[in-house]
Amino acid sequence: MTIPEIIERKREGGTHSRAELEQLILGFVAGTVPDYQVAAWLMAVYLKGMTAEETTVLTQVMAASGEQMDLSSLSRTADKHSTGGVGDKTSLVLTPILAACGLTVAKMSGRGLAHTGGTIDKLESFPGWSPELEESAFLRQAKEIGLVLVGQSKNLAPADGLLYALRDVTATVPSIALIASSIMSKKLASGAQTIVLDVKVGAGAFMKTLEDARALAKAMLEIGQLAGRNTRAVLTDMETPLGSMMGNALEVKEALETLHGAGAADLRELCLELARETLLAEGFSSEEANKLPCQALDSGAALEKFRLFVAAQGGDSSFVTHPEKLVIASGREVIRATTSGYLAKLDALAVGKAVLALGGGREQKGEAIDHSVGVEIHCKPSARLEVGTPIATIYHNAGRGLATATQLLQHATSVSSSAVPVAPLILERLA
Ligand code: URA
Repeated sequence: MTIPEIIERKREGGTHSRAELEQLILGFVAGTVPDYQVAAWLMAVYLKGMTAEETTVLTQVMAASGEQMDLSSLSRTADKHSTGGVGDKTSLVLTPILAACGLTVAKMSGRGLAHTGGTIDKLESFPGWSPELEESAFLRQAKEIGLVLVGQSKNLAPADGLLYALRDVTATVPSIALIASSIMSKKLASGAQTIVLDVKVGAGAFMKTLEDARALAKAMLEIGQLAGRNTRAVLTDMETPLGSMMGNALEVKEALETLHGAGAADLRELCLELARETLLAEGFSSEEANKLPCQALDSGAALEKFRLFVAAQGGDSSFVTHPEKLVIASGREVIRATTSGYLAKLDALAVGKAVLALGGGREQKGEAIDHSVGVEIHCKPSARLEVGTPIATIYHNAGRGLATATQLLQHATSVSSSAVPVAPLILERLA
C-alpha cells in the first residue's frame, strides 16, 4: 500500500491493519515518511477515530519504535500513571507503599510541564539525588529495595515524541485514540506487568469533564488489557489541588509528612486508594488490598523504603527523617478572605499557574526551575471563612512572579453565603 492509500483508508473511516500502521509510524521514525503525510493522517484519525483493537496495535507499534525495558527478571512489577494535576505528589507516597507491600516499582517518571508538576523535578529537591542510572544498577536497586525511579529515556517510544510534536501544531492533540496511545505506548515500553491509571478530572486536569475522562480511561484500560497487562483506572477530582502544598520542595515536604503518618487527608486517601487498586490488579484479595497499604504507611515501612531509595540514588537521606531541612523560599505573602461565607471553589489551574509564575515550573522543555517556591493552601472547598481568614500562603524568592501569583490566587476562589457540598475525591473505578 502507498502512504496516500493509508491516509485515504482512515479518511474514509476504515480500519488499519498492523502492517499499515507499521509502514506509516516506523517510516515516520526512520525519516522516510514526511511529516506532511503524517499530519494529514493524524487529522483523519482525529475526525474518524479508531477501534479499540486498532488503537492497541497503534500503541504497540509506537512502544516498539525504540527501547523496551525488560523487567522479566523482577517479580510483581507495578507502574502508575497520572494524567497530571496540581499538587499531585502521589507517586512519592504510593511507590514506597507498594514496595513495602512486596511489589517492585521500577519506573520511569517525567518532569513537569506548564502548570502540572513532575516527579523527577520534585525528587531533585533532595541534594545529590540523581534520576540517571545504568541499566544494571537500575535492576539491582529494583531487586534490593523494590523501588527505583529514573528519568524517561529519550529512546522510550520515540514515535510518541515525534507524533506529539506534530499533534501539537496540527490541532490534533485532543483525540482519545491519540492521547491513549501516546500515554500507553510509554507505559507498555516501560515493561511493568501491572499498570494503574489515575485519570484526573476538572479545572486543573487535561480532561475537564467526567465524560471525557471516562472515555480516555476506558481507551487506556482496553489497550492495557489487550496487551496482556493487569490494568485498572481510577477517575479522581482535580477541580481543587491535591493536598495543601504546591511546588517542588513543598510537595516533597508534604509527601514526607504523609509517610511520617501525618499530611493532608485527601493525599493519604488517594495514595491508599491507588495502592488498593494496584494490589487488586496484582491478584491480592480485597482484604489484603485494604489492609496492607495502611499497615505499610502506619508502621513506617513505606517511609523506610523511601529513605533507602533516596540514599541508593545518591540523595541525602537525612532530609527524609528531617523534612524541615528542605530549602523553602523565605519570601511569604498571605492571601486572605475578603468576604465571609463558605469557600465554594479553589481553582486548581490558577494555583498551578501561580507556582509556574513564581519559577516553580517550566513553560519550555529544559528550562531551569526554582525548587524552593510554591503555594500552600490553608482551606478547601466547604470551609467556613471570615474576613481575614488565611486562604493561601505564597512562598517566593525576592518577589519573582509575586504580583502574577497574587492576582491568580485572588481570582482562584469563590465564596458562597451557604454551606457547599464537598465533591468526592474518588469519582469512579474502572477495571
Ligand atoms: N500525555 C501524554 O503523554 N500524551 C498525550 O497525548 C497527552 C498527555
